[in-house]
Amino acid sequence: MNIIEIRDLHKKYNEGKDNEVHALSGVDLTVEKADSLAIMGVSGSGKSTLLNILGCLDIPTSGTYTLKDENISDKSASELAKIRNKTIGFILQSFGLIESDSVYTNIKLPLLFSNKYVGKEVKKRVNSIIIEVGLKGLEKKKVRDMSGGQKQRVAIARALVNDPDIILADEPTSALDSKTASEIMAIFKDLQSNGKTIIIVTHDKHVADQLDRTVYIKDGLLSDIDEV
Ligand SMILES: Nc1ncnc2c1ncn2[C@@H]1O[C@H](COP(=O)(O)OP(=O)(O)OP(=O)(O)O)[C@@H](O)[C@H]1O
Ligand SMILES: [Mg+2]
Repeated sequence: MNIIEIRDLHKKYNEGKDNEVHALSGVDLTVEKADSLAIMGVSGSGKSTLLNILGCLDIPTSGTYTLKDENISDKSASELAKIRNKTIGFILQSFGLIESDSVYTNIKLPLLFSNKYVGKEVKKRVNSIIIEVGLKGLEKKKVRDMSGGQKQRVAIARALVNDPDIILADEPTSALDSKTASEIMAIFKDLQSNGKTIIIVTHDKHVADQLDRTVYIKDGLLSDIDEV
């Protein structure tokens, strides 16, 4: 089953102005459920732009995006937010955590915007995710007092807490040493074996090689072949 289908997707920033950028210029992409995909390409090639659209954080200028058999190309921002909360776990390159809050509070946050877990289930759910990503014992620690690898785990836990179908990660290992990066990749592989679809933007061939498939983006277009 295809969980994601993108057809002839275009994204222009500052359309019609002097500083217009045609970041995506006709992208086609199909991803099957429980597949793992790497997106590679040089800086500025459109990787984050594509990931943000896949994650319903941004909308395309034209083209179609079908997510779980539903065409979501023309949804409003609030409809997209609902879809995102239910279906997508997004791990931002800069983590996007609240540094002054604890591990527990950061991970719990998405549950405040959904009704998937209520009452006592909330605490149970947050604690089970904390164990899953290897942060047991650090629940009360403030994010600002953590290492890069620990912050990455908090960001992953927060992306997972709502039990999304798709996990999107923008350069999840770029700031990590190789041992921590391997541990983070092991978490992603584990998630995939539990039926999650994994899409990772990376500059690291070693990371891409651990996933099922790699696509390359160049001049706003995707290819299965590395032409760089
Ligand atoms: N909000 C924005 N407004 C205007 N232009 C943008 C915006 N975001 C990205 N761009 C431009 O779109 C193009 C693609 O950017 P994008 O961030 O998708 O690249 P990337 O492949 O993720 O790069 P990197 O590897 O450096 O993160 C670039 O030319 C960039 O300058
Ligand atoms: Mg980027």
